[in-house]
Amino acid sequence: MLDKLNKLRDEALAAITAANGTRSLEDVRVKYLGRKGLLRGLLGGLPKLSDGEKPAAGRLANQAKQAITAAFDERRAALLRAAPARTGPAIDVTVPGTRRQLGTTHPITQVYDELVEVFARLGFETAYGPEIEDEYHNFEALNIPPDHPSRDGFDTFYLDHGGRHGLEQSGSAPLLRSHTSPVQIRVMETRQPPIRIVVPGKVFRPDTVDASHYPMFFQLEGLYVDEGVSFADLKACLTMAMQELLGEATRTRFRPSFFPFTEPSAEVDVSCPFCGGEGCKVCGQSGWIESLGAGMVDPEVFRHVGYDSEKYTGFAFGMGIDRIAMLKLGINDIRLFYENDVRFLQQF
Ligand code: PHE
Repeated sequence: MLDKLNKLRDEALAAITAANGTRSLEDVRVKYLGRKGLLRGLLGGLPKLSDGEKPAAGRLANQAKQAITAAFDERRAALLRAAPARTGPAIDVTVPGTRRQLGTTHPITQVYDELVEVFARLGFETAYGPEIEDEYHNFEALNIPPDHPSRDGFDTFYLDHGGRHGLEQSGSAPLLRSHTSPVQIRVMETRQPPIRIVVPGKVFRPDTVDASHYPMFFQLEGLYVDEGVSFADLKACLTMAMQELLGEATRTRFRPSFFPFTEPSAEVDVSCPFCGGEGCKVCGQSGWIESLGAGMVDPEVFRHVGYDSEKYTGFAFGMGIDRIAMLKLGINDIRLFYENDVRFLQQF
């Protein structure tokens, strides 16, 4: 055992001296000192020695290990010192590169783009408006009176510290728009009919976050104003758009509703794309999924923008893009869109 240890140490020291690069030196180290190296191999025989022989062997083994380690460190330092300055091929070109992730558009963006495209085919151009609005455009001009509940600070993010102004006061308090409808006003203020626009964008509401509510989400507004625009046009337009979006078999259902800026107003349901209208968990067994608000533009809105409501009629609609995206992509929790979890996003 002692002989073998001495021999092993001498061999190792010779190999270290002979190593002419840090790589081959490392190979030597692994060969002799590694976890499956020769020294360990030898020491495996230690328990078989007699009690008298053990201490000496153990001591020698330790010394050998120290000698080899010291020689290794020294040789390594020398090799590193001698290594050419980092001009030559100090870069290991065989090391695999850092893989670059290919980006894709966000699922909301995909549905946003598709909606804009579907409506473009129906003749709607795209318009945009500011996310920071004033009370006039977000409410007043849309015939939402000062005492309407949605003007309360609980349903709208007001930007001035004092919260919303007194009920009787109105007009200009800055706020984060709570819907895309103010862009209807902004476009009509600057242009004359015919108008056929969709307005995609972010809207904000101080909702408590849950599977279907988020304080920021996306809407797509639609507005069509011309002579002779009728509720039949609204139905045809939305039905076609929904069929393009969710499949040809999609049916729509218009239920009477109320919005201050449309009269008559409707809540539009689409047949559930998951069960085809048979009834399932997603649609709560009803076969229908509530998907947007719509109606004929209220003459009071036309009055605010100076349009002649005897001459022009129009329809407007507003849908939640997140909601449509959830329907289209089979997602059951709106929060997933905004967590930036690549494992989620990569699926689309
Ligand atoms: N602005 C309404 C909302 O956010 C939706 C809507 C738009 C309804 C246009 C009718 C016409 O709930």
